[in-house]
Amino acid sequence: MITCTQRVLMEQHIAQLKNEGKKIGFVPTMGALHDGHISLVERARRENDIVVASIYVNPLQFNNPDDLKKYPRVPEKDLQLLQDACCDLVFMPDDAIIGDSKGFNYNIGYFDTIMEGFHRPGHFKGVAFIVKTFFEIVQPNKAYFGEKDYQQLAVIKKMVKDFGLPVSIIPCPTVREPNGLAMSSRNARLTEDEKQSAAGIFEGLNYIKNNIFSQKPEVLKEWFVKNIQNHPGMQVEYIELCDSENLTPVTEVKESASVVACTAVYLRNVRLIDNLKIF
Ligand code: PAF
Repeated sequence: MITCTQRVLMEQHIAQLKNEGKKIGFVPTMGALHDGHISLVERARRENDIVVASIYVNPLQFNNPDDLKKYPRVPEKDLQLLQDACCDLVFMPDDAIIGDSKGFNYNIGYFDTIMEGFHRPGHFKGVAFIVKTFFEIVQPNKAYFGEKDYQQLAVIKKMVKDFGLPVSIIPCPTVREPNGLAMSSRNARLTEDEKQSAAGIFEGLNYIKNNIFSQKPEVLKEWFVKNIQNHPGMQVEYIELCDSENLTPVTEVKESASVVACTAVYLRNVRLIDNLKIF
């Protein structure tokens, strides 16, 4: 496995691979890798000649400086995990990579006004900038993203379409702990007891799924908030039922359109997101 910190060296490696006609699968990450990330690398391994991963904690997508400061950073462990998963090339740039972000005026539109976009101003613009920059450098045929970040996936698919980028976006299922908690780098900041409480998020989403045809969305959302907030230290930031394609809110459930429940929950000062396709 080759590790590259310089953009120009990375571009040289990619140019050589492209000359050889290799198909490139790309897994962008912010490090602190867990089994969810590794499942993306393994899928990329099965579907491409070359697997490229990036590790970069992108300051542009953190609207909360404390969250950025506390974001777990374990580069040596990450590199070992990537090597074990047979990744070929890892890009680990420094902050020079975001040097020309000021000129990036992409308007994300509706997705920036709801849920993650509403509660984290500037977050998706930061994500869009770094992902587009990585796509330009890595030139992947396919790029792999976890469905845990459901809204992020919608933003990236839209951006790829808006800019006409020649890459296929591959959504991959959320990987969960045995108790149902969605794997996330932020889980490293939870105690074992808190991880047990956090499993209540998935239980709540399943309650919504199991009762979707017998109770109104508003009632299910109220139940979710009450149930989560029974756990000490847990606070629901939002819970929404949305059309799974365009993310518009669903106030009345019709079997013709598919629905996803999306939530963000604080456990102490750790912000956790999750979602579940309802049908
Ligand atoms: O999902 C993430 O880890 C990040 O948002 C991404 C896609 C690596 C961009 O920094």
